Amino acid sequence: MKCIVANWKKHPATKAEAVALARASDFAGMVICPPHQFLEIVHRVIKNALLGAQDYAPDLSKHGVRYVIIGHSDRRAAGETDDGIAEKMARAVFDGLTPILCVGETREQRIRGEAEQIIIKQLRVGLSKISFLQSDRRNLIAEIWIAYEPVWAISTARGAEPATPENAVARIAFIKEQLLHLHCQFSVKFLYGGSVTSANAPSFLRHHDIDGLLVGAASIIPKEIKKIWQSAKK
Ligand code: PGA
Repeated sequence: MKCIVANWKKHPATKAEAVALARASDFAGMVICPPHQFLEIVHRVIKNALLGAQDYAPDLSKHGVRYVIIGHSDRRAAGETDDGIAEKMARAVFDGLTPILCVGETREQRIRGEAEQIIIKQLRVGLSKISFLQSDRRNLIAEIWIAYEPVWAISTARGAEPATPENAVARIAFIKEQLLHLHCQFSVKFLYGGSVTSANAPSFLRHHDIDGLLVGAASIIPKEIKKIWQSAKK
């Protein structure tokens, strides 16, 4: 089965809504990433889904978190650097979490033809500290996930539209190639994120090279997330 990561971003507003949304999204194969203040309550509510966080923090494992999104474009836009991301990746791995590293170019970078260079740098620097760890302590980490999330495709971006599945597959193939150059020996899962809805999810999930989806806006609509999850099960 493919995996679906629900990135609730700043939603919902209240604890009661978080509980209701967690119950409505509690499916095996789902990773639910609520805002930090709702981690504990969501952890208590879910029985089938796994818990993820939207960013690294030292107290995550204490709250039952298993996955952590690192390098999301919202944080990069707020000034997070590749070096800072590398540090968080290393700390997440040390804490026994599976990091979900987000990479992807902005609209301007794409127009200037810089997308590949940007992604290469995001991977090279972002993974630099765990590559070192890995060669030192082979059993420290089992898996990392990498999400290709073009910034121009994220639903909050002006004029956002999802990448085409072909475009996402091509970029994921490119990322895989770079991981070989970096001698990355981790087991890696590859996700696509950016304006995923129940209508377009099957067209991404159909591809063998896409292991799952990172879903933002649609993940807080119970009907939507259920349908997306159903298409991941097929
Ligand atoms: P979106 O967000 O699905 O709303 O485009 C994805 C994300 O920001 O991770």
